[in-house]
Amino acid sequence: MSSFLRPPLLHHFFMVRLLGTAASRTLTAERLGTASPGGHDLRDPALAAVLTFEDPQAFKVKSIWELLRALGVFRLCSFPVLVNNCGKLMSFARTVLGKRGFSMVLRPSVYAQFVAGETENEIAESMEKMSSLGLHPMLAVPIEEDLGESTGERRYDDNLATMLECVRMSHSNAWSRDPMMQLKITALVNPDLCVKLTSLLNEEQYDLDVLVRAMNGEHIIFPGLNEKENTHFLCSLHRLNQIGEASVNKVRVLVDAEYTYMNPALSLITMAMMKKFNKDGAWIWNTYQCYLKESRALLLDAIRLSVDHSFCFGVKLVRGAYMDKERKLALQKDKTDPIHQSWEHTNDSYNGCLDIMLNLISQEPARYMIIVATHNEESVRHAVTRMGELGIDKDGGSVCFGQLLGMCDHVSLTLAQQGFSVYKSVPYGSVDDTLPYLVRRAQENRTVLQGIRKERDLLRQELHRRIKERITGAR
Ligand SMILES: Cc1cc2nc3c(=O)[nH]c(=O)nc-3n(C[C@H](O)[C@H](O)[C@H](O)COP(=O)(O)OP(=O)(O)OC[C@H]3O[C@@H](n4cnc5c(N)ncnc54)[C@H](O)[C@@H]3O)c2cc1C
Ligand SMILES: *[C@@H]1O[C@H](CO)[C@@H](O)[C@H](O)[C@H]1NC(C)=O
Ligand SMILES: *[C@@H]1O[C@H](CO)[C@@H](O)[C@H](O)[C@H]1NC(C)=O
Repeated sequence: MSSFLRPPLLHHFFMVRLLGTAASRTLTAERLGTASPGGHDLRDPALAAVLTFEDPQAFKVKSIWELLRALGVFRLCSFPVLVNNCGKLMSFARTVLGKRGFSMVLRPSVYAQFVAGETENEIAESMEKMSSLGLHPMLAVPIEEDLGESTGERRYDDNLATMLECVRMSHSNAWSRDPMMQLKITALVNPDLCVKLTSLLNEEQYDLDVLVRAMNGEHIIFPGLNEKENTHFLCSLHRLNQIGEASVNKVRVLVDAEYTYMNPALSLITMAMMKKFNKDGAWIWNTYQCYLKESRALLLDAIRLSVDHSFCFGVKLVRGAYMDKERKLALQKDKTDPIHQSWEHTNDSYNGCLDIMLNLISQEPARYMIIVATHNEESVRHAVTRMGELGIDKDGGSVCFGQLLGMCDHVSLTLAQQGFSVYKSVPYGSVDDTLPYLVRRAQENRTVLQGIRKERDLLRQELHRRIKERITGAR
């Protein structure tokens, strides 16, 4: 390994310590006076004006049909009854209309709004269009799976084949520039085992090096697992190793965060992958959910681990998608709620974690990377402002932004037009495979719907402008 990758340890130790204290504020205050070389400073009135995200021009690249479709779909999403019962409504519609009829209704509407397509050609078409708008792809295979559904090694091997196909598609096409993809570990490791590992981790730590050796094919016996579990874990690590081998230097693999009762196991496995594959750059990334009270501590621990084991560290920073279920579970099991008590607390947590990463990136842009995965305009502005203050390049690759396909295009397109690196998370697959994913997305309703209200206004303005243009143009 080249020596420049080895971090100056002492300096790091200070950084990490500083980050936990008010001293980080002085550290950044010093830098406030310096002019930003990237020139993307919110004190620049032009940029500040654009980043209010109020210009319907962002939509000028959309066809009239796409504008109408987005308006229609978002209109439907604005009825809480529809959203809250959409799972039931969809299975009802499917029984009434039959599989084909159902698909005929959904394909041009909801599906086309949120899903890239099913065949490689359809996906390529969507991706080329995105690429021409300056947006990067982040493919996601929607495999919705929770406890108790899984049967046998076969299922996970099938999922592995699908994931490897996703790796290949992500990097081997003309539309793929600096591609990313999302990986759900529970598609390759039995979720029940992840839960068991999580409880074992409360008692003893697993050594990352031992996991890496297991990934390399060594027959390790893990304490606390029975023979069957041990065999499955070894097979699973082998599967994850294949993903790593296939993607390193080609596609950045962003591991999803899921539920708190399994996240520690997912993080452990992800860190082992990082240790093996992130020697020369961040190819494997982990996700941190800022709605968790412990998110800041988890992030700082992970940073420390990456320093101790000298690997590069990539972070997908999200607020978190499983709030309702986490709270329900905590209530059922009479545990303290792991989620911050209000949206405002989550917001502070998000922006705080963001600052930690941006500070590190401004010091060592080759070692640390982050994707600011949010639809929240204020957090996006916060990131852009801090990048300017710290002198982080907008297209340097260490900081990028991420939104879901079909959501908050006014944010994504505006950022891309300003030269920032923006990814759209793109699910693909058949109507049947992607449906549970769409249902879950619709139910992440609350604040997302508020964001959509603005997008609807902007869509409407752009539509009016087009119609007026047609009328005056025709004269
Ligand atoms: C590219 C991408 C990848 C993603 N990957 C993951 C992933 O791996 N794992 C995952 O869990 N999610 C993931 N998400 C979803 C994400 O966690 C959020 O659910 C979603 O983006 C909405 O948050 P926001 O910041 O965009 O919107 P905002 O509207 O600013 O915030 C909504 C979020 O705030 C939090 N919140 C809302 N109300 C409260 C409350 N009363 N108390 C405390 N917190 C509250 C919730 O987390 C809610 O989702 C991903 C999102 C994107 C764009
Ligand atoms: C969100 O958090 C940031 C940083 O902590 C804060 O400045 C901002 O006011 C918060 N926004 C809201 C709406 O509370
Ligand atoms: C969002 O969904 C939850 C259940 O998933 C429901 O309790 C809540 O009322 C919904 N909120 C809105 C604004 O629709």
